[in-house]
Amino acid sequence: MEKLKRTDIVDLLGSEKDDIRVNAKGWVRTKRQSKNVAFVALNDGSTINNLQIVVDVQKIGEATLEKISTGAALSVDGLLVESTGSGQARELQAEQIEILGVADPDVYPLQPKRHSLEFLREKAHLRFRTSTFGAITRIRHAMIFGVHKFFNDRGFYNIHTPIITGSDAEGAGEMFRVSMLDPKNPPLDDEGDVNFKEDFFGKETNLTVSGQLEAELAALAMSKVYTFGPTFRAENSNTSRHLAEFWMIEPEVAFADIHDDMDLAEDMLKYLVKYALDNCREDLDFLTRRLSEEEKHKKEHERSPMNLIERLEFVLAEKFERITYSQAIDVLKNSNYNKKKKFNFLIEDWGIDLQSEHERYLVEKHFKKPVMITDYPKDIKAFYMKQNDDGKTVRAMDVLFPQIGEIIGGSQREEDYDKLLQRMGEMEIPLKSMWWYLETRKFGTVPHSGFGLGFERLMLFVTGMGNIRDVIPFPRTPQNAEF
Ligand code: 4AD
Ligand code: MG
Repeated sequence: MEKLKRTDIVDLLGSEKDDIRVNAKGWVRTKRQSKNVAFVALNDGSTINNLQIVVDVQKIGEATLEKISTGAALSVDGLLVESTGSGQARELQAEQIEILGVADPDVYPLQPKRHSLEFLREKAHLRFRTSTFGAITRIRHAMIFGVHKFFNDRGFYNIHTPIITGSDAEGAGEMFRVSMLDPKNPPLDDEGDVNFKEDFFGKETNLTVSGQLEAELAALAMSKVYTFGPTFRAENSNTSRHLAEFWMIEPEVAFADIHDDMDLAEDMLKYLVKYALDNCREDLDFLTRRLSEEEKHKKEHERSPMNLIERLEFVLAEKFERITYSQAIDVLKNSNYNKKKKFNFLIEDWGIDLQSEHERYLVEKHFKKPVMITDYPKDIKAFYMKQNDDGKTVRAMDVLFPQIGEIIGGSQREEDYDKLLQRMGEMEIPLKSMWWYLETRKFGTVPHSGFGLGFERLMLFVTGMGNIRDVIPFPRTPQNAEF
């Protein structure tokens, strides 16, 4: 007989035709067996749904069936027929089963039952094989695709900005060093400091914390650009919303002020949420059920008033609230949470940085919709932000989301050479290594703006997952770089 070509399970389940001979390959999720017949649920990652394989015990034989257990890889030839019982429109009557790879049930870590997310983090090499991580992986892919489509459709150019850099884009000093010097015996200069002139690049280099500075260079010629790359932060924050390695989407637009920037941010977030609803419905329905199941174990007041799909639809329906930092401080200062000391960090004075508890209060309790805050105190924001005339604030804008807090950080940029130079001096930004950035303000400088969307924070919101370690395949966090 001629060898059958493999068909994706998603296409088999959606097949118009039946009574056709097909081949499916995949990994076993479950097996149920009675005396004469066995049912095997097969998944190949192409859909959340499994293909039910109906196995005639006589025909396939006990010896083969014994090797079919959760996690085993199979190739199945058979007849695709209309299904009456599997919950799917199609099922496969096996004619021949080849065991491509066994998975000894005594040692295979995944069992056909619910595993905790913590357990699965330790099995990140296998967790793609669970329904939850299959769904997240497909949604993550769709979101990446949606990001590129959004910008491509609007005439933006994608710029690959460097991963190894000699500058600190955020000026926060939270960088991972890239060096080839011998850590035990580094060369020293006359002052006894490590002599990076002898290092690979002839200078101190690090992994980038943001592609913004280089994106600005491109925007000041190409008008509308974006980067979408990995970024690295050596901040020791072991929270459910921080990674040491995460992906950031950073558009940068010439001739745009902070209001244009906010419009772009709101459009993009709504576009991406809608893109997920339109393209990932089955996976989102699965995650919605999963989350509702999980919420049952929570106390009444900790439960979200909306399910996942409702939360996504809600973001589309509402115009985001736009307020200044000063207005936000007023709201927080006068809030019951502040008066009854329910915040861990009480709001007393203008000038403090907002914690995620404050951000979530504004979004979830006060405005009950996404909030954009502008005009933050200059001392808690980066050197490159455009200074306001009041001498105290800068044209920063953060977007705050329910469950997440800050999802986007951005600003209008300081395009005035003298003001930028002065601010960099005040903030002790090494001017020598930034000569190229400063030069753009001397030659054809224009107002421009941009922002950074943390891709995993978006993934947290869209999937309803509670921990950022579960929306990236291989999380990098303090004390953890396994896999
Ligand atoms: O607010 P941030 O630090 O802004 C920048 O890096 C700017 N250069 C962006 C720009 O204007 N082009 O970071 C932007 C976003 C945050 O709002 C957050 O969503 C995400 O990046 N982010 C993190 N996500 C995961 N883990 C971390 N450690 C993150 N730090 C920031
Ligand atoms: Mg920020």
